[in-house]
Amino acid sequence: MHIVDIIAKKRDGIELSQSEIDWLIKSYTSDAIPDYQMAAWLMAVFFRGMSDTETAALTMAMAASGDMVDLSQVPGVKVDKHSTGGVGDTTTLVLAPTVAAAGVPVAKMSGRGLGFTGGTIDKLEAIPGFKVALECNEFIANLQRHNMAITGQTASVAPADGKLYSLRDVTATVESIPLIASSIMSKKIASGADKIILDVKVGNGAFMKSREDAIKLAETMVRIGQLVDRETVAILTSMEQPLGMAIGNSLEIKEAIEILQGRGEPLLKEVCLTIGSYMLTLGGKAQNYEDGRRQFTALLDTRQALAKFGEFIEAQGGDSSILQDTTKLPQAQFIQEVYSGRSGYVAAIKAAQIGYAAMRLGAGREYKGQTIDLSAGIVMQCRVGQAVQKGQALAVIYTNDKSKITEVDFLIRQAILFADKPVPSPPLILGIVD
Ligand code: URA
Ligand code: CA
Repeated sequence: MHIVDIIAKKRDGIELSQSEIDWLIKSYTSDAIPDYQMAAWLMAVFFRGMSDTETAALTMAMAASGDMVDLSQVPGVKVDKHSTGGVGDTTTLVLAPTVAAAGVPVAKMSGRGLGFTGGTIDKLEAIPGFKVALECNEFIANLQRHNMAITGQTASVAPADGKLYSLRDVTATVESIPLIASSIMSKKIASGADKIILDVKVGNGAFMKSREDAIKLAETMVRIGQLVDRETVAILTSMEQPLGMAIGNSLEIKEAIEILQGRGEPLLKEVCLTIGSYMLTLGGKAQNYEDGRRQFTALLDTRQALAKFGEFIEAQGGDSSILQDTTKLPQAQFIQEVYSGRSGYVAAIKAAQIGYAAMRLGAGREYKGQTIDLSAGIVMQCRVGQAVQKGQALAVIYTNDKSKITEVDFLIRQAILFADKPVPSPPLILGIVD
């Protein structure tokens, strides 16, 4: 096979065969195809798209490019949950212990934050002593013992995706539905779960800006799951404002603990309840969605989910006394409120810009491998639809770098749009694809 022929075929809109796609991914992973030719192929895919058959072949080729984790020795239906990336999205830290407390094993490989989105692995590192890199045997042992294990994405799982994602990032080919779908599903399939729940974010703070595109992405991923016999459900949720109030690693751990205590932010809690009910249903512990909701609420109210979170933290070497005393989490030196310059109704909060502001404080990375400040971030004090008086606090900045406050204060105030008349709050759950 010749790479130039494969690029030309895709350029001309001709469907590629499974063996061509297999060869392409194998050759690229082993460095036999250079980045410039792969970049040309990615751009051809960006414009021409891929058929369902091609997308499934690409997904399986990427999944098979490294280790395929075998969880068959762990009893029960293993469920994995993945979000397409958001701001103030702390759902995993609530969902995993709650679903595990119900007896459904949660096997999760998570990523770090990049750009304006956060990542579960960074958040967990805010817990003193917590170990985010587990060997495969430790991962399985913890899963068997505690029904729950979270580890960082290792280079050995779907290495083709790691390489391709970096190339897409610098060639303007990220926002392609077949490329996003195969990227996400290849990692989920290689990491071994039986059932997959996808939280597809929609809105100004997400890759998918419209509900239409989000449905297309969700349908593509659900079909791939069906083709490889991993039941997949996608839930479309709004990213028209930060999901929780906290954006930043320590701050988000604290917010997750509040929800696990049965309190906490209602929008974040509602998304957890919705996704959690489907996880309990897919995992065979709930009869249906309503039963799942009832069980999920009970696990929060009885503090069983909180106890499971503590057990999980200890199992991965962390200090679970943070659950009683959150001041043991990294704390920022400077705390500054952001005041509203006018009275009115909050019409929109640009989630991506709030995420960017938190990144400027050091809560996230501008480039791969950058050291972050686990204590830094923002806690929002307003929601879309809310009435605000001039001089009222819109948000609170947490930082160790006083020189960043003026810039971040400006970024936050710019991200919040006002209206003179009441504005309805945007719908939170935008659809289910299964
Ligand atoms: N998340 C992924 O893992 N891959 C993408 O392509 C986009 C979001
Ligand atoms: Ca189905």
